[in-house]
Amino acid sequence: MTSVETKSRVAGKPETGQPVLIIDDVVKTFGDAEEAVTAVDHVSFNVKQGEFVAVIGPSGCGKSTLFNIIGGLLGEYDGNVLIDDERISGPHPSVGMVFQEESTFPWRSVIDNVAFPLELRGVAKSERYDRARHFIGLVGLDGFEKRFPSQLSGGMKQRVSIARTLVSNPRILLMDEPFAALDEQTRLLLGDKITQIQQELKQTTLLITHNLTEAVQLSDRIVVMTYRPGKVKRIADINLPRPRTSDVVGSDAFGHYVAEIWNDLREEASRGMQESEQVARADRRHG
Ligand SMILES: Nc1ncnc2c1ncn2[C@@H]1O[C@H](COP(=O)(O)OP(=O)(O)OP(=O)(O)O)[C@@H](O)[C@H]1O
Ligand SMILES: [Mg+2]
Repeated sequence: MTSVETKSRVAGKPETGQPVLIIDDVVKTFGDAEEAVTAVDHVSFNVKQGEFVAVIGPSGCGKSTLFNIIGGLLGEYDGNVLIDDERISGPHPSVGMVFQEESTFPWRSVIDNVAFPLELRGVAKSERYDRARHFIGLVGLDGFEKRFPSQLSGGMKQRVSIARTLVSNPRILLMDEPFAALDEQTRLLLGDKITQIQQELKQTTLLITHNLTEAVQLSDRIVVMTYRPGKVKRIADINLPRPRTSDVVGSDAFGHYVAEIWNDLREEASRGMQESEQVARADRRHG
């Protein structure tokens, strides 16, 4: 058992409402001197036990950089990302990650994809299949256990990735644009699945997205980021009732939240667009 495991067992599960993930004054700069790009600029917020928080911002504002720091994939940064008072500088056993890119193993069936993390830990076949079946059911893929990824749609493959992450029972679920490649209808329906899973597991979740509807549909709070350098512009509370379904998308309150956050985002997105147009013009002049 690692010291981290010992610590979390002794400490037990924090109460609902306690911060489990603390992002404190995080700064990340790439490159040196004149070439330096500050991707994340003094970002602070926290995620409480059982809470669903989305980070939204225009392309290039540092969302994936933040995701990689929290997931321990980018060890060098300033400030602190803390889980159980421990500063993150590498992958943490409490964190499960779901990536934007397709990440299923094409040579493994659905059940062997989902059971993979348990196989790595040496869990016996019957037990790992039992647990994998539970999570396959939770993401709505009952009956697809023996299929291979090439026989599934994009949305189904993303559900396999989510089940494979959940099977390890991570305390904190981190997702970076998991539905970005999907069409709007599939997104909304998958959003329903995510909400159901959240209700059942009370999973603490941080979702990175640039999709406004998705952020409002799923979240308790939304962290709105500025265009480069990525700072926190505002943290919005989403007081929509739970349990939620995608029906909420038609409500007045939903429209109100979307409009409010779009106001913040529009400024940032247009700043990003102007900047890329300037770069393109400068490139044409010099090219
Ligand atoms: N490894 C790296 N080396 C140098 N610069 C990087 C690196 N990773 C990211 N950047 C820069 O940091 C900034 C933020 O990038 P990041 O990928 O975090 O943005 P993002 O918000 O996830 O964008 P998108 O919505 O397009 O995924 C960008 O200017 C990017 O060019
Ligand atoms: Mg990104």
